[in-house]
Amino acid sequence: MSRGTVDRDYILGTTDQETLRLGIQHESWLPLATACWERAGVSPGHRVIDVGAGPGFAALDLAAIVGESGHVTAVERSARFVEAGKEMARGRGISNIDFLELDLMTDELPAGAHDVAWCRWVASFVDSPVTLVDKLARVVRPGGVAVFHEYADYGSWRYAPTLPLLDEYIGRVMRSWRAAGGEPDVATGIPAMLTERGFCIELIEPRVFCVGPRHPLWTWISTFVESNLGRLVELQQCSESWANSVRGELRNAQNNPAALMITPMVIEIIARKNSSSD
Ligand SMILES: C[S@@+](CC[C@H](N)C(=O)[O-])C[C@H]1O[C@@H](n2cnc3c(N)ncnc32)[C@H](O)[C@@H]1O
Repeated sequence: MSRGTVDRDYILGTTDQETLRLGIQHESWLPLATACWERAGVSPGHRVIDVGAGPGFAALDLAAIVGESGHVTAVERSARFVEAGKEMARGRGISNIDFLELDLMTDELPAGAHDVAWCRWVASFVDSPVTLVDKLARVVRPGGVAVFHEYADYGSWRYAPTLPLLDEYIGRVMRSWRAAGGEPDVATGIPAMLTERGFCIELIEPRVFCVGPRHPLWTWISTFVESNLGRLVELQQCSESWANSVRGELRNAQNNPAALMITPMVIEIIARKNSSSD
């Protein structure tokens, strides 16, 4: 992207820092994502579409799983993320992947009978989750699967001992997503949208964890807090001094080996398109 061009970003931004954060987030969730893809039957030769792929961390791992006989299409609205994804693919010598810059709300998805659609942490950020599911459902072949990791109960995120500033911060995050047209607790509505479109729900399970400061999922969340506080200051949704107080509270908790965090609840959904569907 040329210098000075405004990227089509989202509420969390599309800066290099957000790319790094998404990479850390992906690494923290990799065992969970890999197990999910196994349950969904993602295999060599499959054609996969990753909707709202970001810089493509998951898409690139999926490309390795489906191998040379398979293919991954990563669709994403941010030109900056698309460029970062293409660069990573070139760097890793991965050629069975395409990155397409498009808006899930206004553009058509590339036609094609995909074996798998993967959608993670996207539905919370779009104006219309129904439109997202509708488009995704059309490009999965009969017998193929739609697979989601999306938030269902963001407010489950909390700490013990209680961190009052973090509690207030979590409320602000949820309000900021809603003010931008999104919905943090979006996942509960997705199964019905899928069944209405000819899918059978094979699995729906919560992914919520209770972890201490040394756990990778703690790192996932603390990295998010660090970068998102900067974003909230930039968007004038909180002051720098308040952000620093939240950072301090989290740092203290991190130094307490007895501290615990319950993660924001994600729901894993694996849904298979009925063979009679179009
Ligand atoms: C939290 S990130 C998740 C990225 C990726 N799915 C992952 O798991 O790392 C949300 C992504 O959704 C993308 N996004 C949000 N609204 C979109 C839209 N209308 N069309 C395409 N992408 C969109 C954002 O640009 C961002 O890359």
